[in-house]
Amino acid sequence: MTPDPRRPSVPVGLRWAAATSAFQIEGSRPTGASGRSIWDDFLERPGAIVDGTTADPACDSFRRPEADVELAAGLGIDRYRFSIPWARVQPDGIGPGDRMALDHYSRLVDLLLDAGVAPFPTLFHWEMPSMVEANGGWLERDTAERFADYAAIVADRLADRVTDWYTLNEPAMTTLQGYAVGSLAPGRQLLFDALPTVHHQLLAHARAASVLRAHGAARVGLTNNHTRVLPLHDTAEDRQAAGLYDLLHNRVFSEPLLAGAYPELEALGLPAMPVHDGDLEVIGGSIDFYGINFYNPTTVTAAPEAGPIPFDLVPTPGVPVTGFGPEWPILPEALCDLLIDLHRRHPDLPPVVIGENGASFPEPSRAARVEDTERIAYLAGHIAALSEAMDAGVPVEEYTVWSLLDNWEWADGYTQRFGLVHVDFETGERTPKASYHWYRDLIASTRAET
Ligand code: NOJ
Repeated sequence: MTPDPRRPSVPVGLRWAAATSAFQIEGSRPTGASGRSIWDDFLERPGAIVDGTTADPACDSFRRPEADVELAAGLGIDRYRFSIPWARVQPDGIGPGDRMALDHYSRLVDLLLDAGVAPFPTLFHWEMPSMVEANGGWLERDTAERFADYAAIVADRLADRVTDWYTLNEPAMTTLQGYAVGSLAPGRQLLFDALPTVHHQLLAHARAASVLRAHGAARVGLTNNHTRVLPLHDTAEDRQAAGLYDLLHNRVFSEPLLAGAYPELEALGLPAMPVHDGDLEVIGGSIDFYGINFYNPTTVTAAPEAGPIPFDLVPTPGVPVTGFGPEWPILPEALCDLLIDLHRRHPDLPPVVIGENGASFPEPSRAARVEDTERIAYLAGHIAALSEAMDAGVPVEEYTVWSLLDNWEWADGYTQRFGLVHVDFETGERTPKASYHWYRDLIASTRAET
């Protein structure tokens, strides 16, 4: 029998989830200085956001979380991944928590639990309070302590009902795009001088993890963006360039977490990490699960001329692309290869959670129906790749679609729709797309098998 490409074979027992993040869906941004995050600041820079929009109202989810919970529950997912914004909870990045904000997330947790969906929050999905960034942000070691204080405030309120936590979302993107090249907030362009932000984020994660455990958390991890790095040509130069990019995007984060040590940076002429005695021991033992957000492979070639960056990122030849064009090639087998390779390097890999996977495609801003067959093919292809990696022994436990809802895609504003649910940003109306029904049916069919 020919396998149905829309119905990938899925190992029994995989948990299913869908994700959003606060800044991208909530709206209701503060009007004054207090409670602002680095994204409120960044989007005001001329030209920073491609369509010149703001994240207000986005999906208006802060005012109507019930609508999102109902859609999440309707999918039959095990867990809903959402984020708690540091800048709303601790508006100045210091001092006590904001009671109204904490009430809001406490209610969201209750709504989810009542609907039979486990809450799986992320403490940092890129929304640093502007005041913390003004003091140096992730370039400063002290930010790790600030973050642990914030984690304690959230845990005090929610840890009686939340058992599992993500501390950070995609620290690699914060370092590479936020501090090295400046295409995301806080928009710094420090190139290799951004590297201390790796260590300070990992330290923040580890400090927050011990705070959460002290509050009774069952499992704590983070989720990072991983890419499969491919050399454009099979030449020594391109392989070397690809190796360096792999180190900066993937290994500099995964190795301290999974092996308790940074890869060799100084031998490559890169600045050393600002490690203090004992840091690596704390970071090395800090995760109960490892989150991987996977979207696409990255093809790399050696830069043709000597310059500060010795590699170029180029389109991956011969593969289809998402709504972002050649920047986001579609190659599901890259997910399988990446997982198998990570497991080979780290045979004691903790349980893996796919924290995000999904794609944007051009879709209308108003829609009664969205037949998003390309999204279904993308998701089915990646679930099949995941299943293959699991057959090869990689301990994957959970798969999460990005995103439950169309939302405000950071520097790409409202131009990229990732949702299983279409959102009309003028009216707030939510319309499940064909992919929503497909994912719901896939989940139901795996339950029927057990
Ligand atoms: C990763 C980020 O965590 C999420 O916020 C973003 O919208 C998706 N990737 C798609 O770019």
